[in-house]
Amino acid sequence: MASGRSSSMCSIWMIVLLVGFTGSSSAQLSTNFYSKSCPKVFHAVKSVVRSAVKKEKRIGASLLRLHFHDCFVKGCDGSVLLDDTSSFTGEKTAAPNNNSLRGFKVVDKIKSKVEKRCPGVVSCADILAIAARDSVKILGGPSWKVKLGRRDSKTASLAAANRSLPAPTSTLSQLKTGFRAVGLNERDLVALSGAHTIGKAKCTSFRVRIYNETNIDASFAKARQRKCPRTAGDNNLAPLDVQTPHTFDTAYFKNLINQKGLLHSDQILYNNGGSTNSLVKKYSGSAHTFNSDFAKAMIKMGDNKPLTGSNGEIRLNCRRPN
Ligand code: HEM
Ligand SMILES: *[C@@H]1O[C@H](CO)[C@@H](O)[C@H](O)[C@H]1NC(C)=O
Ligand SMILES: *[C@@H]1O[C@H](CO)[C@@H](O)[C@H](O)[C@H]1NC(C)=O
Ligand SMILES: *[C@@H]1O[C@H](CO)[C@@H](O)[C@H](O)[C@H]1NC(C)=O
Repeated sequence: MASGRSSSMCSIWMIVLLVGFTGSSSAQLSTNFYSKSCPKVFHAVKSVVRSAVKKEKRIGASLLRLHFHDCFVKGCDGSVLLDDTSSFTGEKTAAPNNNSLRGFKVVDKIKSKVEKRCPGVVSCADILAIAARDSVKILGGPSWKVKLGRRDSKTASLAAANRSLPAPTSTLSQLKTGFRAVGLNERDLVALSGAHTIGKAKCTSFRVRIYNETNIDASFAKARQRKCPRTAGDNNLAPLDVQTPHTFDTAYFKNLINQKGLLHSDQILYNNGGSTNSLVKKYSGSAHTFNSDFAKAMIKMGDNKPLTGSNGEIRLNCRRPN
């Protein structure tokens, strides 16, 4: 009897140890992480996001993208927010980010409001996760309970940002591989690409497609070409969703079916017998399914390799390590 009990105690400890060492590193994120230490964080973030979106609708898209570009590079650790200095190279000049990522001033505003309420408690990485959720909701999309408890990195990686963020020229197989690397499957890829129902892209991101691809609606291509000449206007913008650029809805998927995806990486999701065609069709006709899958996939993306416990720090200023 005694030996039986000690061996079962032993197995329990083995399980505890195994979970500790091999379990998901997101084990410590929870929706109630700040319920005692900073219950006001949600109101603080939402009020700043709401007034920023009121001023400029696109900023909701920009904030959503910041969380994505944070999570895909070294995990959701606020690394994307660190400024370059003479002795520090951050991620802001990485190819997918340079002259493209925006919303940093809004994040500063949120951070200072949150710091006033609860000094030194809420991480910049968590602020990005909450701001992304609020942006989607305010623009008409789904809401979800954000898991929290991430801490901020003291470092950033330009090389990882260049390498890990998907390019708009990607093939479907490259997109799938890139998403798999952060724990996201093909369904997550299609659902999350639906983020392109809001926001804008620069001419350089879609020029090759509108001049040289054949799976594109001819009048759509013509219209885009007018503001994106072959050899000028690199920074001219076009909406990622030609129908409802400021509403988080299923029009993005309807566009794909009509060959009106703006980026090569968008249209590749609905193309000649592709494996993701049926899902695009499904989302185009069911806001309910899209919203539900999008919310689930956002939570999954937010679980990517966060710093927790005593790793990292709670930055006081999102632009620099303490
Ligand atoms: C599937 C792979 C993806 C690729 C290749 C991709 C690529 C791009 C590109 C090239 C732009 C335009 C950048 C510019 O021209 O300045 C863009 C914008 C945007 N992306 Fe993605 N993206 C992907 C996935 C995602 C995901 C997963 C999200 C969020 C969940 C997202 C959210 C956005 C948003 C909201 C914008 C507009 C930002 C703004 O207007 O400021 N994207 N993306
Ligand atoms: C980033 O963009 C700026 C402004 O467009 C440009 O001058 C600079 O060369 C770019 N940096 C990198 C590393 O591409
Ligand atoms: C990252 O990409 C930028 C812009 O293309 C390039 O200037 C830089 O050398 C790259 N750096 C690394 C470390 O990959
Ligand atoms: C389109 O393709 C042609 C022929 O390959 C090439 O010369 C041209 O530069 C391409 N145009 C764009 C805008 O990429």
